[in-house]
Amino acid sequence: MHKDFLDIIDYTPEELLALLDLAVELKKEYKAGGNQPTLKGKVLALIFQKPSLRTRVSFDMGMRHLGGDALYLSPNEIGLGKRESIADIARVLSGMVHGIMARVFEHQHVLELAKWSSIPVINGLSDYSHPCQAMADIMTVYEEFGKIKDVNITYVGDGNNVAVSLMQIAAKLGANFTIANPVDYDMPVQAIETVKPIAAASGSKLNFLRDPHESVKRAQVIYTDTWTSMGQEEETAKRELVFPPYQVNDQLVAEADPEVIVLHCLPAHRNQEITDEVADGPHSRLFPQAHNRLHAQKAILQTLLGEK
Ligand code: CP
Ligand code: NVA
Repeated sequence: MHKDFLDIIDYTPEELLALLDLAVELKKEYKAGGNQPTLKGKVLALIFQKPSLRTRVSFDMGMRHLGGDALYLSPNEIGLGKRESIADIARVLSGMVHGIMARVFEHQHVLELAKWSSIPVINGLSDYSHPCQAMADIMTVYEEFGKIKDVNITYVGDGNNVAVSLMQIAAKLGANFTIANPVDYDMPVQAIETVKPIAAASGSKLNFLRDPHESVKRAQVIYTDTWTSMGQEEETAKRELVFPPYQVNDQLVAEADPEVIVLHCLPAHRNQEITDEVADGPHSRLFPQAHNRLHAQKAILQTLLGEK
């Protein structure tokens, strides 16, 4: 049993599938009238160094649905590593709340929180990865296709945190993962190298391409994300020159499988990485995907914070 949920790579395929099964069950239960209060009396601290809509609301509501509560801690309030060391924050919170969700800049900071906490720590996005997003993404794929194995997932755009976690979950669960990204915007080499043997074991095929058109041939899922992630704002102008050929628009979608679905973790920069026509069109699953954050994370919360 894991104490924390820091990265997809740390979990076995069986553990990930168990979380997904639970997410599907909790979603059904919630839609049928409400969840059992399995986390009654439990409180989750929400540490945010960056803005958020989905992550904040889904963790807060997820805790409430399970009978618990959440406590939002803004960047200015706790000054992670500035007002106080991460190790001290982790040890103080360990005696006051039952779990920590942290959205940080440096991935090392969420690892450090986990190292010094005696309570579960959940990565709510770091510069390296976004594992909770990947759980909701793959849940959406499963709901759409009734399977995950052998589904062709293509990510078009920046090789960022969202791409890394999506690649990891595809490799773990046997979906095929293709990415098309510009030169200089590859995923970290270490992320690619560590996932290769995992993909080989599950039968997942990985493709690392430059050409967005080639990448979407036979794609059943097209995924994109912002060209400029939080913390990279000073690169915005430069990125806006490089990324336009990677826009997910009607023309690109028409080159994929006719039944292709389009995903985006959101927030979307409409008419940059994705056009309005695609985001609001028949292939889009953007909002069911966003809603699945709630259900996927409840499964994580119940597993980590619930009675063992
Ligand atoms: N997708 C996602 O994590 O959204 P927020 O940044 O709004 O939490
Ligand atoms: N890649 C984006 C994801 C936002 C949810 C970012 O890090 O800003």
